Amino acid sequence: MDSRPIGVFDSGLGGLTAVRQLRRIMPSEHIIYFGDTSRVPYGNRSADTILKYARQDLRFLRSFDLKAAVIACGTVSSNCLGTLQQENDIPIVGVVEPAVRRAAAVTENRRVGLIATRASVSSGAYQRLFRRDHPDIALFAKACPLFVPLVEEGRFRPGDVVIETVAAEYLAELKEWGVDTLVLGCTHYPLLEDVIAGEMGPTVSLVDVGCESAYEIKRQLKSMDRLAPEGAGHVDYYASDRPADFQRLAASFLREDLEEQVHPVDIEKY
Ligand code: DGL
Repeated sequence: MDSRPIGVFDSGLGGLTAVRQLRRIMPSEHIIYFGDTSRVPYGNRSADTILKYARQDLRFLRSFDLKAAVIACGTVSSNCLGTLQQENDIPIVGVVEPAVRRAAAVTENRRVGLIATRASVSSGAYQRLFRRDHPDIALFAKACPLFVPLVEEGRFRPGDVVIETVAAEYLAELKEWGVDTLVLGCTHYPLLEDVIAGEMGPTVSLVDVGCESAYEIKRQLKSMDRLAPEGAGHVDYYASDRPADFQRLAASFLREDLEEQVHPVDIEKY
């Protein structure tokens, strides 16, 4: 048993979709969440900048005595998980490997789609893992750079003509390729689940990367006997800009109101 907190971070609010899943399957854990709202989005930045930001995010979280960390950001996980794992002496889970495992278990026709930020797709992380572990699966990847800003603007509901038009254009190729499984490779995308499912049709299974990373950290902590003792867990929230905006927008990602106070962080200090 280990009652120390799990650190979770993302470029902004998207990682809260992973927090929702962590709370669902590990309600006794103490979670510390950091959203780098002053520098979101990461998805159009260079690999060097993403690594620099991710190091600072993790350094801030490690100012607490963490037992493990979850990188609830597809962009950081795709670009620098290995480096962060090498530099830190705690278990660190990203979203890519658990999502690949899940997609491989679900697909029947061995044609899997990936939608993610530009930086995630161009990192080649998913392509490498499928080639290494599931060479019989064909992966079709599509960068969707407009999805994150539209989600952050609250334009994610079915019936919204802007998001439906953008989604139809992005997903047309994936439909042509005949994928039966689609990895939502960015933690913002679960908010688009209804729009994406509506476009792809009922025969395509969607993989939520935040959800898969939550199962993975639970599995690892359990195998090390480091789950928290039974009791009521809680989440502490930190953001690098406009805590009040974070507080207001968080409800859509968590699917419940955020009652807790959001604390400001000057991330450039880390
Ligand atoms: N939630 C991040 C991800 O999973 C958002 C991307 C961004 O900051 O551009 O990739």
